[in-house]
Amino acid sequence: MQSKFEQLKTEALLAVKAIKDKAGLEELENKLLGRKNGELTNLLKGLKDLSEDVRKQTGQLANDVKKEIEDALASKKKELTVKEMGGLLEKESVDITQPSLPKKAQGHFHPNTLIQNDLEDFFTSMGFLVLDGPELESDYFNFTALNIPETHPARDTHDTFYIKGHSDWVMRTHTSPNQVRAMQKYGVPLRMVTPGKCFRNEATDVRHEHTFYQLEGMVVDKGISFAHMKGVLEAVAKHLYGPETKINMRPKFYPFVEPGVNLEVTCFLCHGKGCRVCKQSGWLEIGGAGMVHPNVLKEGGVDPKVYQGFAFGFGLTRLAMLKYGIEDIRLLESGNMKFLEQF
Ligand code: FA5
Repeated sequence: MQSKFEQLKTEALLAVKAIKDKAGLEELENKLLGRKNGELTNLLKGLKDLSEDVRKQTGQLANDVKKEIEDALASKKKELTVKEMGGLLEKESVDITQPSLPKKAQGHFHPNTLIQNDLEDFFTSMGFLVLDGPELESDYFNFTALNIPETHPARDTHDTFYIKGHSDWVMRTHTSPNQVRAMQKYGVPLRMVTPGKCFRNEATDVRHEHTFYQLEGMVVDKGISFAHMKGVLEAVAKHLYGPETKINMRPKFYPFVEPGVNLEVTCFLCHGKGCRVCKQSGWLEIGGAGMVHPNVLKEGGVDPKVYQGFAFGFGLTRLAMLKYGIEDIRLLESGNMKFLEQF
């Protein structure tokens, strides 16, 4: 019996040595160690018929033979794997003289989106909600709820796109309709910003587009004053254009605020000295703001005797123009890749 083990070992080790590939190795492993009819397995099964003494000696030898064969199979497997990898690496050799492949086009944000994301982060850090609203808006939310009744001349300044066959629908002319929507939906106290697209039937020029972005903001709570509004507007201006930036507020009429202001920031180019960008004034207009009119609070279901608020509407597109020194607003919606790829 012992000689049978020795012989099997010699033959098995020679066979392992001669193997050239993994398929052959697997076949040999099965032939030797297969559970049903492996040659070594069958020999091991015979151990049980030996007398106790002989079984002890032969058992020890059998274990050694089994281990040697298993080790030989394992190291052959390793050897074949390394050979395979070596082949792959050889195929992967680098030709440093080959010209580089063209760069894959990579997407990037539009300048309006960059400013919008930046301001959303800024306002959420101060606890503001970021809200959305419909671009196709009702006449009620766009005008009436904002204290602009049907015959009010303020409607003319907005150059509205009306929808054929739906006289009470408009493409929203500003983001202010979301003031009343937000109060109706979320109640008070309220702190929210709402960025989005607006539409006006304008004769376009370097500063006016028919489609542009605004970012509206509103705070309503007990004891809110003009000073709170000034603080927030100043913080936004400094965040966008640097710590030296100042704001200027000139009275302006908006039916939905009282008092209302036209908001300007120090010109980014001349820092207030006066230049062609700011038309020698030292200031650049970025939006409107004011204390929310009591009638608007009422439309939002809020009692103006208990609550006060302020609201502001930045021309988001204008903010982007100022930030990046873009001189013609029409470039932003032009789809001109040469322009857009700079951002
Ligand atoms: C409004 O639209 C008010 N809803 C803003 C407001 C909100 C006032 C809350 C008070 C309280 P105005 O029409 O002035 O206001 O527009 C605000 C800003 O939008 C302007 O300062 C300008 O930066 C931008 N804007 C207006 N029209 C255009 C246009 N055609 N193209 C590009 N930007 C525009």
